[in-house]
Amino acid sequence: MATAISVSGRRVECTDDQSMLEAFLRAGIWMPNSCNQGTCGTCKLQVVCGEVDHGGSPLDTLTAEERAAGLALACQARPLAETEVALRGEEMGRTTHVLRDLTATVVEVEEIARDTRRVLLGLEEPLAFSAGQYVELLVPGTGERRQYSLANTAEEDKVLELHVRRIPGGVASEWLFGAAAVGDRVEVRGPLGDFHVPDADEDDGEPMVLIGGGTGLAPLLGIARTALERHPDRTMVLYHGVRTAADLYDTDRLAELAATYRGFNLVTVLSRESVPGHRSGYAPDAFVDDIASARGWSGWLCGSPALVEAGVKAFKRRRMAPRLIHREKFEPADAVGAGN
Ligand code: FES
Repeated sequence: MATAISVSGRRVECTDDQSMLEAFLRAGIWMPNSCNQGTCGTCKLQVVCGEVDHGGSPLDTLTAEERAAGLALACQARPLAETEVALRGEEMGRTTHVLRDLTATVVEVEEIARDTRRVLLGLEEPLAFSAGQYVELLVPGTGERRQYSLANTAEEDKVLELHVRRIPGGVASEWLFGAAAVGDRVEVRGPLGDFHVPDADEDDGEPMVLIGGGTGLAPLLGIARTALERHPDRTMVLYHGVRTAADLYDTDRLAELAATYRGFNLVTVLSRESVPGHRSGYAPDAFVDDIASARGWSGWLCGSPALVEAGVKAFKRRRMAPRLIHREKFEPADAVGAGN
């Protein structure tokens, strides 16, 4: 059975097994979204008329007062009757990449750093997405989904690149560091998330700073390469923060970017050891030490909640406008969040 839902005059059918967010995204209608798990609050919207079941919406994310005021989490709520929703102060009814289910084939699994693998997934048909977005992987044999940011640019749409950190006991880790083999077939759903490079016509070539913790580098690779291709002379600094030198990866690939684009700089920051050629400490602190003013810059943060929060503070301290700060948090377990 399906129930009609609409936003800004655009109407779609929401089936019983779909959230409102999923129904809109599958129709190519944009809704703000990030975690798709009910934890971040990004997808909060106003129910204008109709009725919804809040499903698994946690009270921490959607309070009783907010429910009473007609708010709902699009990623958790299901319509109980024909329902119209509105977004708060956001651009409503805009078109986005269509959320799709695809079958992919593992074409490469490569050890790239300590407890870190690059996984390449071949698609039979291309997937449209914006650099920085993520996909959900249905972990074979478990029925569980895990989220991974794409390291691709939008043009690299037939082989998805994921960076995976091993999490002891994590269901995705167990598979990807165990039985996963070239030729395996996996179900993938995407694209998801609002952490992505702006459309070309909204990109004016402003200076950019990107800070990634561990495998939080993945979406930044797609974003950085896209932004540099558009504006080859732009100023860009990418900070990759890890614990030790053994956790660094793709430094050659990033050195190549630095050789191609003279405005691009890579800074590697180690928090647990001191090694010549790398900074010591935390990436947000290194940024504060390096950049006197980030007024007019855009900032991109992907990593643990602690890194992202420290990054936001560092950016604001250097006068970056809040609207130019983009963030993607992931938890250090393969239970929740993109980019693990
Ligand atoms: S709470 Fe819905 S996307 Fe995070």
